[in-house]
Amino acid sequence: MDTIRIDLTDTRGQQKSVEDKIALAAQILRNGGLLGIPTETVYGLAANGLDEKAVLGIFEAKGRPQDNPLILHVPGPQWLPRYCADVPPLAYVLARKFWPGPLTMILKRRPVVPDRTTAGLDTVGMRCPNHPVTLAIIREAGVPVAAPSANSSGRPSCTTADDVMEDMNGKIDGVVDGGPCTVGVESTILDLTVDPPRLLRPGGLPLEDLERIIGKIEVDKAVTTPLKEGEQPKAPGMKYRHYAPKAPVTVFTGNPRCTAQEIAARLKPGMGVICFDEFDGLFAGYEKRCLGPSDDKAIQAQRVFDALRAFDGCDVTEILAQCPDNRGLGLAVSNRLKKAAGFHVIDLEDEQVILGLTGGTGAGKTTALRAIEALGGTVIDCDRVYYEMLRSSEELRGDIAATFGETVFDADGVLDRKALGQQVFADPDRLDQLNHIVFRRIRPELQRRIAAAPTRVIALDAINLVESGTDALCDRTVAVTSPVELRVRRIMARDGIEEQYARLRISAQKPDEFYRGKCDFELRNDAETAEEFLTQAKEFFTKLIEQIKEDKANGRK
Ligand code: TXA
Ligand code: MG
Repeated sequence: MDTIRIDLTDTRGQQKSVEDKIALAAQILRNGGLLGIPTETVYGLAANGLDEKAVLGIFEAKGRPQDNPLILHVPGPQWLPRYCADVPPLAYVLARKFWPGPLTMILKRRPVVPDRTTAGLDTVGMRCPNHPVTLAIIREAGVPVAAPSANSSGRPSCTTADDVMEDMNGKIDGVVDGGPCTVGVESTILDLTVDPPRLLRPGGLPLEDLERIIGKIEVDKAVTTPLKEGEQPKAPGMKYRHYAPKAPVTVFTGNPRCTAQEIAARLKPGMGVICFDEFDGLFAGYEKRCLGPSDDKAIQAQRVFDALRAFDGCDVTEILAQCPDNRGLGLAVSNRLKKAAGFHVIDLEDEQVILGLTGGTGAGKTTALRAIEALGGTVIDCDRVYYEMLRSSEELRGDIAATFGETVFDADGVLDRKALGQQVFADPDRLDQLNHIVFRRIRPELQRRIAAAPTRVIALDAINLVESGTDALCDRTVAVTSPVELRVRRIMARDGIEEQYARLRISAQKPDEFYRGKCDFELRNDAETAEEFLTQAKEFFTKLIEQIKEDKANGRK
């Protein structure tokens, strides 16, 4: 199919031809065709919303899942009762105040609106776009226009007619070029079928503007947090990974100066940056897009999709993006960036919480660490870092050789753990010395890994957490303990060994009293199964992390 371009950007002195172009566009819609249309938010992919076949064409052209409903575009509130039932007075109040404009209201639908359009829902989204050309086309067509954003499903939305051509050329009948969109992010979606009304998608109309009229509005969870598996958002479209460029995105929130510095510290060759204008200079030589000044969210909204789309034209491996706060249009801009990042967000305002975990074999430390990971934390295995550094750090190897003699390294330069063990395990002073040497070298490496961790909660896993001094890096330490008899059974089952060996292993380690005495908290594992303990551990850490955050917020460390 040839996609024609209907250019309405240059309208000076061409009155006749403008009318012809609008008539042509309306004709395409009336005939069941598909048409790219400009709106103030983003370009839409329009069809007659009452024509099931035409609507099906939208889903096909976009590759859009059939369970994601479309919104209807109308020229004004007079059209609401035609397609909506029981329209509440508030809908008219809001329409009077904000239409035409970037507000979509979810209302009860009338049967005249086909299932195909609403994906079987008994509600329908209604919007009156603030674009003179599109309003004229809808009036002329005389039908409500179903129009999702004109991008291919999953890609960032289109804010110019060229963007639409890039995604839809050959798949639709035409594109009306009405110039670049002035708002740049999609409409704000407000569900009026619930009381109080609920914000399903932040957009071009700031939440605060709505709240000034209606009072407090609940914000749907899907706006700010990733959905858990199986969870259904109220706006079906919010469940899809949206707006995503091909390269993975990480978003940084917090003070712009801090996020710029953090990004600069993390950048490696081949990565791309989305930054506020004033930090442009920090990222010379990198593939980058500027979002606008950090205090001008209207410009950021105009540019956010263009920035995300632009990276698909180059080969960046990863994109690091600065992100505005949630006030005003910032809620919509940050929502689009975070969705593009699959909610991979590093919040520099939100301080890190560092937990130290220790405990003897078979007590359940591994399961406790799994609980922390399940809560979105990162685990750093200190033993592993130690062994890696034994291989890679000349300083550490040199220190060990200087104190314990060259003989603790074999001919290939590999540490002979047995030889070292013989020197330290019989002599507590020597063990202290070793711990001291190791911690001095390992500390900066652990701090580096903590700073680079992709999450705010971090657990340091160390059997000798306290003896090594690693506990000094932690906000709180937790001893995982468990009755000896249970530990024996667990070790036997886990490692397939006989009881006497299991007991031997346990007795070679420090008793629970030691860990209990040295740590801030004890997490006792009396559970019969690992799953049961996992649940208990999750509850324990959820409370502990909350408490630590609260303490930090109150200035108590
Ligand atoms: O600014 C906009 O709203 C643009 C322009 C073209 O008007 N349109 C747009 O449409 O963004 P779309 O389809 O890309 O996004 C509409 C969102 C989807 O997440 C969809 O799931 C949700 O609205 N939606 C539509 N009907 C709904 C309903 N009855 N109840 C809840 N959510 C609904
Ligand atoms: Mg969309």
